[in-house]
Amino acid sequence: LTPKDFVGKQVLVSAGPTLEPIDPVRYVSNHSSGKMGYAVARAAEMRGASVTLVTGSVSLDPPVGVETICVQTCQDMADTMLSKMAHADIIIQVAAVADFRPDHRETLKIKKTSDQDRMTLTLVQNPDILRTMGERKRPGQFLVGFAAETHDLAANAVKKIKKKNLDMIAANLVGGKDAGFQTDTNKMTLFFKDGSKTDIPLMDKQAVAHVLLDNLLTRLDPRG
Ligand code: PMT
Repeated sequence: LTPKDFVGKQVLVSAGPTLEPIDPVRYVSNHSSGKMGYAVARAAEMRGASVTLVTGSVSLDPPVGVETICVQTCQDMADTMLSKMAHADIIIQVAAVADFRPDHRETLKIKKTSDQDRMTLTLVQNPDILRTMGERKRPGQFLVGFAAETHDLAANAVKKIKKKNLDMIAANLVGGKDAGFQTDTNKMTLFFKDGSKTDIPLMDKQAVAHVLLDNLLTRLDPRG
């Protein structure tokens, strides 16, 4: 039986990729399927939390009992997360947010010409949503980031905890066949701001989500 240990908690979760338009038919994005973020939202809802899910464009059904808000770009996700964060006790940023976007969006489809064998796309940096949430976090609020790394998992994750003022970061390696983007399973290491860490071995993403919530619950400020 699922424990109802999140009753009374407001949980804000993000999931999926952001899409950054180039023109009306093309965009820059990444491989996120939304599976990990949806699993976290579903697990929190099953455990009694009141959950809002802010999701990039994915092909998953919205989780039952969860307020689901669809967004497209990093800027849309930033606007939504920042407007919702004041009401949340726990914020879990699972989304794979594009770090860069095309510097402008063409209003008409870019046409290729016969004498053109290459084109250059200029990208500009997107706002860092998690970092802004870290700056705005109020006492008692618990902020969780994810780190998707291809190498130096621990060092990169620990840097992100400090830089973004997080309480916990869930670090996973991407690019393998069992974990990371699109897979049904995942494995990760949770790093906490006090320097401690816990490994979550390979299991399906729903089970990973529950272990993540178990760990988070033991760290919540009782005044929060
Ligand atoms: O969706 P799936 O296919 O199931 O795959 C799951 C996953 C691999 C996407 C997920 O487990 C994961 O690792 N999510 C984080 C992806 C990511 O963007 O990691 P990052 O290391 O680049 O960013 C660190 C953190 O900053 C993340 O919480 C990210 O959401 C946040 N960020 C990054 C850039 C930005 N402009 N704004 C942000 O908020």
